Amino acid sequence: MNLNIEPSGQSCGATVRGVDLSAPLDDTLVAEIRTAWLKHRVLAFAEQSMDDDALERFTLAMGGFGEDPFFDPIPGRKNIAAILREADENAPLFAENWHSDWSFLPRPPAGTCLMAIDIPPTGGDTLFANQIAAFAALPDERKAYLRTLTAIHSAKLAYAPDGTYGEKDQATDRSMAIRPDESANKTEVHPLIQPHPETGEEAIFSTLGYIIGIEGMAQAEAIALLSELAQWQVRDEFVYRHRWEPGMLVLWDNRSVLHKATGGYEGHRRELHRTTIAAAA
Ligand code: SIN
Repeated sequence: MNLNIEPSGQSCGATVRGVDLSAPLDDTLVAEIRTAWLKHRVLAFAEQSMDDDALERFTLAMGGFGEDPFFDPIPGRKNIAAILREADENAPLFAENWHSDWSFLPRPPAGTCLMAIDIPPTGGDTLFANQIAAFAALPDERKAYLRTLTAIHSAKLAYAPDGTYGEKDQATDRSMAIRPDESANKTEVHPLIQPHPETGEEAIFSTLGYIIGIEGMAQAEAIALLSELAQWQVRDEFVYRHRWEPGMLVLWDNRSVLHKATGGYEGHRRELHRTTIAAAA
């Protein structure tokens, strides 16, 4: 099958039509999707009629389930979480900061799937920033320096008991099943610049937030460097704005993009079902 792929015209992202992901997925189709995914980094499959079984089948075909710390899954499923905001909810938005999913794990996930369940008529776009393009556009000297750095990652600012979604969360009506935990205080190190495990292209991996320091660097210097880099990482020329449609499934590559949620849908419900794709063995 030849996929019908429309590139977004932005730094990454493409819409895929003419494929039915609720039907069994053969090896040829999965290989074509993987090739397109590695090229465009974010794929939006339009006009799908998938249910949770189909979402699980697709995730398994793309590499299997990854770990999902700090969320409870939806009832009856071990590997699907709901990204949910009720129409009358006052809680601050979930995932409004740029990040690469679970970059603080020893083996961060390869990708993430997000399936539209309830899409507001306006707003709720997801933004993606291409970290291969962001690295490629740096001067050679800066690239060489950044390649020498090892980043310290942690979930503590978000998911520790005293983090954004712990005691600091003023929300009394948050619908999402977020579960802060002491284990968020752990740290893990990863090279700041990483060759993509499947394409070899170098990317800036993750960003300030889940990166809390640089090995061997004074904290003030590290935060200054990471803050400056964070601004570079999400310059307009590296960003793709994804506009959701009912029936859409989005697949992104955590090794090459950052992403963040946006608001603008006050008074409307928004629900997506999310699965995590494990790192390649
Ligand atoms: C996420 O980071 O998983 C959520 C993104 C979104 O809600 O648009």
